[in-house]
Amino acid sequence: MADADAVRTRALSELSTVTTSDDLTAWRGAYLGRQGAVTLLLRGLGELPAGQRREAGAAANDLRRELEAAVEVRRAELERSAFDALEAGSIDVSLPGRHGLVGRLHPITQTVRDMLAALGEMGFQVVEGPEVEWERYNFDALRIPAHHPSRDTQDTFWVDHPSEQGNILLRTQTSPNQIRFMETHEPPIRVAVPGRVYRYEATDATHEWMFSQIELLAVDEGINMAHMKGTLTQMAQTIFGRDRAVRFRCHYFPFVEPGAEVDIQCDLCGGEGCRSCGNEGWLEIAGAGMVHREIIENVGYDADRYTGFAAGFGVERIAMLRHGIDDIRHFYANDLRFLRQF
Ligand code: FA5
Repeated sequence: MADADAVRTRALSELSTVTTSDDLTAWRGAYLGRQGAVTLLLRGLGELPAGQRREAGAAANDLRRELEAAVEVRRAELERSAFDALEAGSIDVSLPGRHGLVGRLHPITQTVRDMLAALGEMGFQVVEGPEVEWERYNFDALRIPAHHPSRDTQDTFWVDHPSEQGNILLRTQTSPNQIRFMETHEPPIRVAVPGRVYRYEATDATHEWMFSQIELLAVDEGINMAHMKGTLTQMAQTIFGRDRAVRFRCHYFPFVEPGAEVDIQCDLCGGEGCRSCGNEGWLEIAGAGMVHREIIENVGYDADRYTGFAAGFGVERIAMLRHGIDDIRHFYANDLRFLRQF
């Protein structure tokens, strides 16, 4: 068994060379910890002849108290000298700073902002509407009554909250804001409404159950299809470049007449198995059309005087084409290896 005097000499000599609080912690472990030298000294008392135990035990206990006091003294000395160094200005302020973690905008937020900037240049004002919406605005006021087949393609998450004003749901599209805005404003109108929408959807490479749309609405005297095509083409080409082809296909939406779907040329498919457009060469990015006359009348405008166009862009699809992303599900998987690339 080590002799208490020998342990004392070694411990105090090492303590005098300790200069950091980490070293101090290590020193404490080496002498006063569970496997420390003093602890072992105390544990070994039982092995001594009975006549020596009392004296050796008292010496070991004195040593423990002495070292515990010494370590506190050393700690205070180290703190004082760190403080003195600070006061003496020995911190080198010319050293480069430590880098903090820098956050960045999600690729969808970036695309939303770029699209809104392009629309802003064409005179569109940005407004927002609720994600938790009345069934009336999401469907009925858009000429989609309860029995309408359009509801099948846009089933959603319903809020279990019976109310006299109707049912509540997570909106399936940003189009309810057409009604909301027209009900509270007079023409001329040029608004862009960004926001998240929700659908009861089986997910695949181009379908998510939560995604983002940007709604466009322009109502004024003399607005026609040419304005709609010009505005949507201009917006798409601001994002994708002048050379990118845009295509309009006839499509039915109950709240517009005539209606169209807008496709952009897919440049991801260099041949077989394009997961982005299914090798069709085009990816649908928006629905659009001339605001239905009945809707113009229902919000109280003079339908002989005012006409308008509306469109709803799918932001994720646009971001996919823009950045060459072949699966929409990457956006919301929260994998920093993916997100840090943008
Ligand atoms: C609508 O949502 C209409 N409200 C668009 C509209 C607005 C038409 C104004 C006429 C006038 P649609 O269901 O096609 O239409 O969706 C619009 C766009 O959202 C699509 O072109 C597509 O780019 C995107 N989109 C649709 N479903 C999904 C989905 N599950 N995941 C990701 N993007 C989707």
